[in-house]
Amino acid sequence: MLNKKVKSIILAAGKGTRMKSDLPKVLHCMFNKPLIGYVLDAVNNTGYADESFVIVGHEADQVENYIRNNYGSTKCIMQMPQLGTGDAVSKALPYLNGYDGYVLILCGDTPIISSKTLKDFIDFHENNDADLTVMSAIFENPKNYGRIIRDRNKKFTAITEEKDATAEQKAVKEVNAGIYCVNWSKISSAFNNLRNDNAQGEYYLTDIVKWAVEKNLKVQAYIIENKEEIFGINSKQQLAEAVKIINRNKLIKLMEEGVQITDPDTTFISPETEIGADTIILPNVYITGKNKIGCKCKIGPFSHIRDGAIIGNNVRIGNFVEIKKSVIKDNTNVSHLSYVGDAELGEHVNIGAGTITANYNPISKVKSKTIIKDGANTGSNSVLVAPVTINENASIGALSVITKDIEAYSLAVTRAPLKQITNWVKKKIEKLSGGIK
Ligand code: UD1
Ligand code: CA
Repeated sequence: MLNKKVKSIILAAGKGTRMKSDLPKVLHCMFNKPLIGYVLDAVNNTGYADESFVIVGHEADQVENYIRNNYGSTKCIMQMPQLGTGDAVSKALPYLNGYDGYVLILCGDTPIISSKTLKDFIDFHENNDADLTVMSAIFENPKNYGRIIRDRNKKFTAITEEKDATAEQKAVKEVNAGIYCVNWSKISSAFNNLRNDNAQGEYYLTDIVKWAVEKNLKVQAYIIENKEEIFGINSKQQLAEAVKIINRNKLIKLMEEGVQITDPDTTFISPETEIGADTIILPNVYITGKNKIGCKCKIGPFSHIRDGAIIGNNVRIGNFVEIKKSVIKDNTNVSHLSYVGDAELGEHVNIGAGTITANYNPISKVKSKTIIKDGANTGSNSVLVAPVTINENASIGALSVITKDIEAYSLAVTRAPLKQITNWVKKKIEKLSGGIK
């Protein structure tokens, strides 16, 4: 446990000009979760987080809406206009009046940061009795990042932004990750003393370093080893790179845990998907959102699991199958060309090719549930119009449209009965040609 509380400030007011988008930068998604969600989860999962503030500005309504719906206890604070990262933090001053704990400051556009690193970072701050700790990293190509400036004795004295840096400073490879831990009672007055006489005419958060050094406070840098964690997203290209990074890390972790992934290059699995050992993931599988998949399953090729799937053991999800918000119990097969959404499938269920759970009424906009109990099966191309229940061991004939509950052990068929007209073709030909030659 720490000696003091940790409150967090997450900066998310900027426009994100380089994204070239109507959507605020921090609401861009990786695996259906916005960047700001990754940052808030990392903070919350440290186990240290007491209270968090998100600084909003550009398209504030949209960002606030997302936070309210997903992180109810997090407060949003308005920054309008956006005069720089230092100005952004200063907006939290009235909310932290008299507060004597630590404040963790992060950017909403740095989503790969892990809770483990944040926890180590806060521990490092406390164990060294620091007043201000800045996370840094050594980058071969430090372009666009602020540089960590050290004096002759290697003492950390300032951060210089790329646009304000001299040629000598630009050559520095130690960069500012944009993550800070401060003793609020010692550092907070820095925010009333920032100036904007720099290349961008902004109030830089980074200038608190120089201020604290001048005040003889204890300032230090924490050099992160796994630098990909501080990868900041400023463009759509960087967004795609970040998805690749988190995906690769996830696939490696799953393989270490015993999941077989045939082709990591074409497989995408969200960080919040759990998969049991000896499950085989075939090529071109896309799994997004939060899901739980058991052991010894076979998924793919070309399957799409879209969030909220709870899949048991020894389940087969085959090609061109989409699964959404559904429970699928052990030993069940959904092998090809089917859509299973808002459904509950029991054990030993067999879903025939092209079965659709018609779960959505576009007029009422209501989504309804399909329940298929143990041992039941559906024939190819059947449509199950929800809400509907297929009871134990019932059988649905191919091409049927099921609009009411089906009893256990019964057969349900809605297609027209098969008619066979003997020699129909022969007679047609004879009539046309005046007889078969
Ligand atoms: C910032 C740092 C830089 C660091 C880099 C790490 C400053 C001056 N520079 O640069 O040293 O290497 O992050 O990624 O801090 N924001 C606001 N209000 C504002 C301006 C920005 O909330 O008025 C938010 C943005 O939405 C964004 C974050 O602050 O989430 C960082 O802003 P950005 O413009 O991306 O800063 P960088 O140029 O990346
Ligand atoms: Ca940035």
